[in-house]
Amino acid sequence: MKVIVLDNYDEVSKEAARLVEEKILADDELVLGLATGSTPLGLYENLIKGHKTRGISFKNVKTINLDEYLGLDNNHPASYHAFMFETFFKHIDIELTNTYIPDGVPKSAEEECACYEGMIDHVGPVNLQLLGIGTNGHIGFNEPGTDPNSLTHVVELKESTRENNAHFFQSIDEVPKHAITIGIQSILKSEQIILLASGKNKANAVKTLLESKEKVNPDFPASYLWTHDDVTIIVDKDAYSIV
Ligand code: F6R
Repeated sequence: MKVIVLDNYDEVSKEAARLVEEKILADDELVLGLATGSTPLGLYENLIKGHKTRGISFKNVKTINLDEYLGLDNNHPASYHAFMFETFFKHIDIELTNTYIPDGVPKSAEEECACYEGMIDHVGPVNLQLLGIGTNGHIGFNEPGTDPNSLTHVVELKESTRENNAHFFQSIDEVPKHAITIGIQSILKSEQIILLASGKNKANAVKTLLESKEKVNPDFPASYLWTHDDVTIIVDKDAYSIV
């Protein structure tokens, strides 16, 4: 696991964008695994800038998102479909048919999960997976306790996760209690993984992650990243402050 410590959130976002651009320039048919939440917002801004000012093209790029809330349709402003469209996709030249996000209102959640995992195997492998990290060590929405062999599945969100994400909703009561997430195993199928973390509120999670090499365990799902051989963690000084 390679660790890059930078001054602040801006630097983390720029470095992550630089690495993504480098991959796209090397292979314009890149398959990118994408995350939502607050952390990647700066990365997406920088990628949009790269597209608008330096002509970085996403025309042939495919994207596979980690997760979606169960019960929110694509038009719900807090759905990850809406998030990805508003913060990233509508500003670049990506074909929306090349973007994949789990359906939040499937007829059968079980079928949707099986279908999404099949899509990952068909469209993938993901060449570069971008991740954030939850304060409880979740990656995607793989909450503590998740089986390391898990594929795409329905998860019950922890209260702490609902609270952390409540700012995207009018109130915490609106935050769904369940989501569809790709599994730990699905994440580990990616060729390369970059995890971003910024701010003092992630310091504990980053410390636990970096100390978990000999203690890979389901109570801290991000610890499974130690079992992958191409993981880079890009953090700012605040997130690295107690390591
Ligand atoms: C989002 C996701 C989550 C977030 C994590 C951190 O698609 O999969 O694992 O990366 O909850 O969220 P933020 O960045 O909002 O702190």
